Amino acid sequence: MKNLAFFASGAGTNVVKLMEALPGLTHLRASVIVVDQKSSALLNQMFSVPVILMEKQKEETKAQYETRLVTLLNEYEVSWILLAGFMRILGPTLLNAFQDQKLGHSRIVNIHPSLLPAFPGKSGYADAFKAGVKESGVTVHFVDSGVDTGPIWKQQAFSRETNDTLEDFVQRGKAVEWKIYPAFLEWLNQYGEN
Ligand code: GRF
Repeated sequence: MKNLAFFASGAGTNVVKLMEALPGLTHLRASVIVVDQKSSALLNQMFSVPVILMEKQKEETKAQYETRLVTLLNEYEVSWILLAGFMRILGPTLLNAFQDQKLGHSRIVNIHPSLLPAFPGKSGYADAFKAGVKESGVTVHFVDSGVDTGPIWKQQAFSRETNDTLEDFVQRGKAVEWKIYPAFLEWLNQYGEN
C-alpha cells in the first residue's frame, strides 16, 4: 500500500480530481492534504482525509519548514507526494527524505502546465500564450532540485485555437490536467506491485 500526500496552494482542482480517482486503485491510499496558504479553497471543502494548513513562518528557514513537513508526512506514513499547484521550490530536506534509490529520482511528482522544458516556472499558461504557441501541453514529472526540471513521466499536448483568449487556453489545458494526473495514479497503483 502506498500512502499519498497531496500538496496545494490555491484552488485545488487537481487535488479534487486526484481524490475522485482513488477509489478502485487498490494499492493507493490518500493520507493527508497539505496546503501552505490559508486562502486555499481546499480548506473549505470536505474530504475523507485531513486537510492541514502548514504555513511557512517568516522567521523559519526553508530547511526548518521542510523539517516540519517531513515530520508531518512521517506521522501519516506518506511514501509519495503529489504536488498540485504547490507554489514553492522544494529544498534538499524534503527532496532527500523522498529520494528513491531504485527509481533513481524522488517520490515527489509535479504537474506543470506546459510542454517542458518550454515555459517552466510559475506562469506556464500565460508564458506559452504570450509566446504565441500553436500547441502547448501538460507535463507530469518527478521533482528534483531545479524548477520544473525533473525526469518526465508523461506529456500531453493541446492546441491553441485561433480565437482563444487566455482563459479559453487555460480551460483547455485544465481539462488535460484533470485527465493526465489521475492517469499517473493508475500507473503508480501498478508500479512495483507485480
Ligand atoms: C495547475 O495549472 C497546475 O498545472 C499548476 O498549478 C495549477 C494548480 O491548479 N502547477 P489547481 O489548484 O489544481 O486548480
